Amino acid sequence: MQTIIARNLLNLKKNLNNVRKKKNIGLVPTMGCIHEGHLALVKKCKRLKYFTVVTIFVNPTQFNNQNDFKKYPSQEKKDLKILKKYDVDLVFIPKIHQIYPLGYSTYVKEFNSSNILCGKKRKNHFSGVLTIVLKLFLIVKPNVAFFGEKDFQQLFLIKRMVKDFNLEIKIISISTVREPNGLALSSRNKLLNGQELQSAQKIYSRLKKIRYLDYKYVKDLEHELKKELKKSGLKNIEYLEVRESISLKRPSMLQKRKGLRVFVAIYLGNVRLIDNYKLN
Ligand code: PAJ
Repeated sequence: MQTIIARNLLNLKKNLNNVRKKKNIGLVPTMGCIHEGHLALVKKCKRLKYFTVVTIFVNPTQFNNQNDFKKYPSQEKKDLKILKKYDVDLVFIPKIHQIYPLGYSTYVKEFNSSNILCGKKRKNHFSGVLTIVLKLFLIVKPNVAFFGEKDFQQLFLIKRMVKDFNLEIKIISISTVREPNGLALSSRNKLLNGQELQSAQKIYSRLKKIRYLDYKYVKDLEHELKKELKKSGLKNIEYLEVRESISLKRPSMLQKRKGLRVFVAIYLGNVRLIDNYKLN
């Protein structure tokens, strides 16, 4: 089957209306610069036999810094070549003014877990994420949507939104795809220079070295993890926190707690990288 490329809402609608009668639709939202992490989502969607729709849209409303938005990497031609190779059924690449026409003023806001971790310093980040994801859900009307644990808080909030808004969409997640040295794949890795990349490659391996069972209090473990990163030259830590996967709450004691996760955001030069992993 040929990959359909839709660049506007009308074209997308025409194509999907025909499909909907025959097949279930799976949606993989991305901001492009496709890598193996994105492709793991695509492969899962294809394996489950959904009509696979990938969206490429660098969403301006989730960037709190215009410069970060402007320098976000883009490689549309290469992306399309890769997505065609993986037999994606349809790629939707809308223009900004179709998604946010002049006068646009409606946003989704979550009130419990959006202002911690990645939302603490980036005030409207998750409002932007949830707004674009809801819009893509309403535009594509998928049966299933796929997201990565790499952005665990994002995944958590999307699941929350689906529940809160009674959306009839199943959310399927995949674990983080990493390089052999442990670095989580990210489109932003492309922005790192040689030295920064070397430092980035240490984040996961150094954190994993610490035996959490040696600590009684979460605060002590967090302190030790930060110390380990700083020792490796990773000094510009935005946050490093241990939280519960199920609630994103931060316990004080480590003992008897299951489903804990370490969340980290680090700057290497101007590039902000995030990662998280299961502690137990
Ligand atoms: P983007 O960073 O392009 O990621 C698109 C999807 O790929 C997200 O679900 C993300 O969690 C997943 N992903 C990225 N790197 C991954 C990795 N190394 N392993 C597994 N999955 C990975 O996340 C966004 O775009 C945007 O916020 C979006 C949801 C598209 C809304 O604009």
